[in-house]
Amino acid sequence: MPDAGEVLVRAESVSKVFSSRAGDVRAVDELSFEIMRGETLGLVGESGSGKSTVARLVMGLQPPTEGRVLFDGADLASVRGREMRALRRRMQMVFQNPYGSLLPHYTAAANVAEPLRLHKIGDQDSRRKEALRLLDMVGVNPRFADLYPRQFSGGQQQRIAIARALALNPDLLVCDEPTSALDVSIQAQILKLLVDLRESLGLTCLFISHNLAVVERLATRVAVMNHGQLVELAPAEQLFHTPQHSYTQTLLAAVLPVRGAKAATLVDAPPVPEEEVT
Ligand SMILES: Nc1ncnc2c1ncn2[C@@H]1O[C@H](COP(=O)(O)OP(=O)(O)O)[C@@H](O)[C@H]1O
Ligand SMILES: [Mg+2]
Repeated sequence: MPDAGEVLVRAESVSKVFSSRAGDVRAVDELSFEIMRGETLGLVGESGSGKSTVARLVMGLQPPTEGRVLFDGADLASVRGREMRALRRRMQMVFQNPYGSLLPHYTAAANVAEPLRLHKIGDQDSRRKEALRLLDMVGVNPRFADLYPRQFSGGQQQRIAIARALALNPDLLVCDEPTSALDVSIQAQILKLLVDLRESLGLTCLFISHNLAVVERLATRVAVMNHGQLVELAPAEQLFHTPQHSYTQTLLAAVLPVRGAKAATLVDAPPVPEEEVT
């Protein structure tokens, strides 16, 4: 396990303003938080609260309007060229829509091997071998490695996307609503996979969801956003049992009936065999 207590990501008073003819939108408003090595920081908030913008800021895909984001001490806005490529390798993302995030004309194995190819790691044979190992690790039978994304179910597509995100052995995995597009039973399976991977690989995660029940399953600490602002950040246990902020209490009240149902699905239900190929 990585050293506990070491900061991997530090957002310092970071804001993102989108300007349009209709006016300015402060999508992210002076957010400060840290992601410690080995932890899973959950980020929750209603749709439009700025979560995906935070994900892009943390990944260095968009520059902040104000403030800065440090990854392992490096200011993402000032890193360029080779150094940026080296940093990019260390942070990977999983998106809500797995099909849209995979290359449709590449097989499952080729999708997973693509980051290795881009970073010129190994040769074709070793990359394929590694892709098969990763597919197996995320629960996709390597027998299906040469099928195309459209031939897999949504859950299997998301597993392939996760395998690809892990190909470069990243330090940080940013998951932006990774289960929101999936059926409930499949959601539980993908969450379990992420829990297992996080434990076996010692991953650091930023895990984003509009659904508190989903975050409760994974997060070490939870940050709650509302209208671009951070309203509460607390250890998961504390946030779910003694939420301090009235907005968090409202969010919790809204999902309570679902929380019980979800927990039952995750713990008690027999494993639902998911069709591997549709
Ligand atoms: N590229 C963009 N241009 C203009 N407005 C944007 C852009 N991206 C996000 N926004 C706005 O920023 C706000 C936060 O969006 P987003 O980060 O996607 O929220 P969430 O992921 O929590 O649903 C929304 O009001 C959204 O319309
Ligand atoms: Mg979003």
